[in-house]
Amino acid sequence: RTKRQAISAEPTALDPAQLTHVTLTNYSKSQESQELIQRALLENDFMKHLEHGQILTIMECMHPTSVSQGCCVIQEGDDGSTVYVLEEGMVEVTKEGKKLCTINAGKVFGELAILYNSSRTATVTALTDIKLWAIDRQVFQTIMMRTGLIKHSQYMEFLRSVPSLQAQPVDVLSKLADVLEETHYSDGDYIIRQGATGDTFFVISEGQVKVSQQNPVSEELVFLNTLTKGEWFGEQALKGEDVRMASVTAVGDVTCLVIDRDTFKQLIGGLEQADNKQYDSDELRAKVEAEEVYFSSVS
Ligand code: CMP
Repeated sequence: RTKRQAISAEPTALDPAQLTHVTLTNYSKSQESQELIQRALLENDFMKHLEHGQILTIMECMHPTSVSQGCCVIQEGDDGSTVYVLEEGMVEVTKEGKKLCTINAGKVFGELAILYNSSRTATVTALTDIKLWAIDRQVFQTIMMRTGLIKHSQYMEFLRSVPSLQAQPVDVLSKLADVLEETHYSDGDYIIRQGATGDTFFVISEGQVKVSQQNPVSEELVFLNTLTKGEWFGEQALKGEDVRMASVTAVGDVTCLVIDRDTFKQLIGGLEQADNKQYDSDELRAKVEAEEVYFSSVS
């Protein structure tokens, strides 16, 4: 259900065992070609939602090729093996002999069969001599998958750095890593507002946050703590306390990994269980206990 998987090909086409050996090779290209390819990818309805890093890597891995006027580039019904960006010239798209459209320089074609793991949906013929940038299916899918895998392993690392989660089995952490959402904040943004209801738990993956609490009598805002990368907050919401007991604001740019209560409970089975686990070391136990004391002091 994660957003980052939404555009990728069918799971069968992304079998990691088949794609780990693929080497990504960069092909040098002029500044104009680099820009043309990136623009083409960003203008394509099916590819514009890819992450910036994926767009860049796809651009870098595209290799040049050319086709003469009148030749068929893609044959409807074939297994697709390449995605193209047209650099120069013009092509015609036909389906069952009927013309669908012509495509000019600066456009992507041949993406559908690769993205959706289907056969070619139409025939593409060169109306002039054409120059193309091409990327093979396996390279394309490797880029799609590696970005996902790198993110997944980063998320796992962060989740492991949360003391209360450290004793969780790897498969549970992996599922959490699959479902969490990444959120971004700028300096001064409220991530959590005291008094608001909330059902989300945050792990800081980049940057720093400030925890502060308003004194109910004097209404004075009291600074409580600064939290940084790998630290976490909002865990009271996981226990079912849905009114936030303190405010948390971003100090500079901040990225958080966010998990909601229902998902967390489904995967971990409630915090009680997580609290009662065996800790690997006294140091870890002390850290968890210190966090519990701290969080009970803010609630
Ligand atoms: P694919 O199915 O891989 O191969 C044929 C390509 O033709 C297809 O991807 C699209 O890039 C393109 N194509 C198919 N149908 C249309 C259409 N109606 N308009 C423009 N391009 C199309």
